[in-house]
Amino acid sequence: MTSSTDRSAPLVVRTPHELRRALADAGRTALVPTMGALHGGHQSLMRIARERADTVVVSIFVNPLQFGPNEDFDRYPRDLEGDTARCAQEGVDVVFAPETETMYPAGRPMVTIEAGEMGERLEGTSRPGHFTGVLTVVGKLFHLVRPDLAVFGEKDAQQIALIRRMVADLDFPVEIVGAPILRDPDGLASSSRNVYLSAAERTAALALSRSLEAARSAAGRGAAAARTAAAAVLEEAAGGEPPVEPDYLALIDPSTFAEVADDHRGDAVLALAARVGTTRLIDNTSIRF
Ligand code: PAF
Repeated sequence: MTSSTDRSAPLVVRTPHELRRALADAGRTALVPTMGALHGGHQSLMRIARERADTVVVSIFVNPLQFGPNEDFDRYPRDLEGDTARCAQEGVDVVFAPETETMYPAGRPMVTIEAGEMGERLEGTSRPGHFTGVLTVVGKLFHLVRPDLAVFGEKDAQQIALIRRMVADLDFPVEIVGAPILRDPDGLASSSRNVYLSAAERTAALALSRSLEAARSAAGRGAAAARTAAAAVLEEAAGGEPPVEPDYLALIDPSTFAEVADDHRGDAVLALAARVGTTRLIDNTSIRF
């Protein structure tokens, strides 16, 4: 395997057989699961992986199972060449980029991993079946790569919480490492979907991070005040041009994703999702009350 200082191109493998061969003497292995369209946020995940393992594998697979019928599966950006170049910059050893038929040879699998109650809240309400798709593919990737650790971005707060639950509940022998949200200097959280935004939509989308900031500033006055402050920013943006259409804004308990009470004490996550034009964006922040 290449060492952490070698920045040569990663080996791109397409099948489980090629993957096993590539990982024959891998030593401690880190997996960064992605759907491609890699950006600086993904690169920060790769750097965390690089620091902690002998071999870094990045999987690139646009997983049809986690997209709803009216979502952006078909137009999701795909750029294996550009993605491989970004992986090379971070000293990634292996890129696993299977075809859909390789991952799901019989079409939709009959047996899937269900996320349970916590997976039905927030993102799960707006995107029914989404987390079944995510957990099923992540479970498959864990079996295929057999990593010692896997790195996920904290922007998808509910996703990483559910993956942690899956690993605990189903005894996957893998450590889950969270990577802090990477933001542009103006506050916009890095996302593969940001490429869909026009200049005006991108400016409007800053309301998401402003809303989180407003909640953090109001946190000293309690959970209800934080929730109200965040909602006020989104309400104003809903009347802007282009409008920001909120999907949900929730102040939740990080272990259950259920709403916290107005007098909550302790840790909480303010999570929100909104649509700007045709683009759906999510963001979150941790707040301690
Ligand atoms: O976060 C993502 O990009 C995807 O949900 C994941 C974890 C790679 C599963 O397809």
